[in-house]
Amino acid sequence: MRSWPSTAVALGADYNPEQWPEDVWAQDVARMQEAGLSFATVGVFSWSLLEPAPGVYTFDWLDRVLDLLHDGGIAVDLATATASPPPWFSHAHPETLPVDHDGRTRWPGSRQSWCPSSPVFTAAATRLTEQMARRYHDHPALALWHVSNEYGCHNAPCYCDTCAAGFRAWLGKTYGDTDALNDAWGTAFWSQRYTDLAQVQPPRRSTADSNPTQVLDYRRYTSDALLAQLQAEVSVLRVHSPGVGVTTNFMTMDSFRHLDYTRWTSSVDVVSTDHYVIGALADPQAELSFAADLTRGLAGGTPWLLMEHSSSAVNWQPVNRAKTPGQLLRHSLTHVARGADTLGFFQWRQSRAGSEKFHSALLPHAGTRSKIWHDVLELGRATRALGEVLGSRVEAEVALLWDYEAGWALQAPSHPSAEVTYGEVAHDLHAALRRAGVTVDIVGPHASLEGYRVVLVPTLYLTDTETLGALATAADAGAQVLLTYFTGVVDASDHLRADPVTGDGWSPEVATLTGTRTLEHAPLLTDEQITLDGLLAGAATRWTEWVDVSESTEVLARTVDGPTAGAAALTRRSTGSGAAWYLATRPAAAGFDALLARICADAAVRPVAVASPGVELVRRRSDRGSWVFAVNHTDASVQVAVSGRELLTDTVVDGLTVGAGAVAVVREG
Ligand code: GLA
Ligand code: ZN
Repeated sequence: MRSWPSTAVALGADYNPEQWPEDVWAQDVARMQEAGLSFATVGVFSWSLLEPAPGVYTFDWLDRVLDLLHDGGIAVDLATATASPPPWFSHAHPETLPVDHDGRTRWPGSRQSWCPSSPVFTAAATRLTEQMARRYHDHPALALWHVSNEYGCHNAPCYCDTCAAGFRAWLGKTYGDTDALNDAWGTAFWSQRYTDLAQVQPPRRSTADSNPTQVLDYRRYTSDALLAQLQAEVSVLRVHSPGVGVTTNFMTMDSFRHLDYTRWTSSVDVVSTDHYVIGALADPQAELSFAADLTRGLAGGTPWLLMEHSSSAVNWQPVNRAKTPGQLLRHSLTHVARGADTLGFFQWRQSRAGSEKFHSALLPHAGTRSKIWHDVLELGRATRALGEVLGSRVEAEVALLWDYEAGWALQAPSHPSAEVTYGEVAHDLHAALRRAGVTVDIVGPHASLEGYRVVLVPTLYLTDTETLGALATAADAGAQVLLTYFTGVVDASDHLRADPVTGDGWSPEVATLTGTRTLEHAPLLTDEQITLDGLLAGAATRWTEWVDVSESTEVLARTVDGPTAGAAALTRRSTGSGAAWYLATRPAAAGFDALLARICADAAVRPVAVASPGVELVRRRSDRGSWVFAVNHTDASVQVAVSGRELLTDTVVDGLTVGAGAVAVVREG
């Protein structure tokens, strides 16, 4: 497969030369060389300029861009250019415009204004893809195909009539007949029994909450419909551009959950993602690290590609924080530490017009006499020093289960607490381990758990018997398996797993595995705080429950006050050569630290290295050696007990000191 040179961690950027007069292009390429770019992503939003009228193509300008880049030694990640259809398309085909939950049309005038189910859109997009593939397959600059852009970013879900028809067809395939559909959706409730699929609607805004299984199926349908759009373009590329790799940029950021990427990865050759730091988060860097680990999980542990991040501020948050000195390097190398072999940016040259003119770029409005350009050159030097880590894998002994479907189901209304959101406890656990210098693989619900010493299962509200069985097997085989509250509550149809006949509580399989039977949920009010004792001594929020603990199960912490005063908050049951733990509340950070310190001690999981607090540590390893990444997020220098050659300064270290806000990468040995 073609690629870009791999002697350095590759740098690249979205390049939108069509926003600039042509005489700027040569300067762009010269500056790209200066910055050490290996690739440029071209054509993402170029449809209206490449096909100004139906079937009329103007490729000449793009030919010149690709030639220039090639002559400058810059490889091209070429977009199929289908992310945003031109005005003539939306004008001629108003039925392709997305419709929102309330039945309002989403008009063109921004981007991605197309319905995920539209066959008219598919036809137009695949026609352009074919033209692009035919024209550029043999171009020497072409290294990778970039299909569409951030599927579902603005157009999912859509509730139009085309989607309604697509949904009915999907339901027909999934359930066969209305009897099976009625069973799955529990339509005996609220007089919802269907006698013909034609009666089924998307979950458009109704008088009260829509049927939760209908909503869940609609999310599955939407993800599948967009996946089919990807696959339609990929099939065209396979025919007309064989041998060239294909990707599409996912969004593994915390704020985007519309697509079940675990089902998408087999349709691309390389997993790529975009990541932007959200300034308003309590710990934005922790979210970055989580997203990077999630991306690595989607890539099955193989190196992945960061398609976009930003050199500094973005434009789409309420307040757009600029990166402070050193942050660009810390953010970028954290992605590399966690498995990225390529660092892309949005975008090369900052726009002068349009919505993103305040979005940072590699080449900012302030030109090369600027902090950003200085930071970019510094990053370029660092990436060139890190070539030897390419292809190595991140070492982790802890797995954390992540399931988009469980998140979709958990988000439905009419639950014990709307404040129990998917990802909250996952982030708590991940952040505690990150503080402790322990790396976590974030894996899908059906991933193999073999070899992991610790398995964390945060709020896996929806799950199946297979996953629950795998957790029991992992514990028996020696892993420390931690399940947190509101796990194992419903099956794939969002029906309770509880069985009033056996009376095994709200999560019967969880009760069997952990020895802790949930009798009743007792969520806490928004600002309510309770006290815990024992191992978790300190505060807790969000959730408590009344549980019945079996005799063979230890109670390691209890609620001291609050609605369930005296109830078990943390339990541990030995099983096989491992143990199953149950956490029935949300302790404060110190409680999570104590819990994970104990679990890691029991599992003999050690941090990457002994280090001062505030330094983020990850080890990558291959048969050529191992490398410790140390990212210092504090404003004082820190110590890390590693020795070897530090690659960014090219010095031998025996015990590493990382300066305030700096990054170090040590080849061990
Ligand atoms: C996304 C898009 C880009 C750009 C950036 C801005 O990642 O793919 O086109 O809009 O956001 O942050
Ligand atoms: Zn639609």
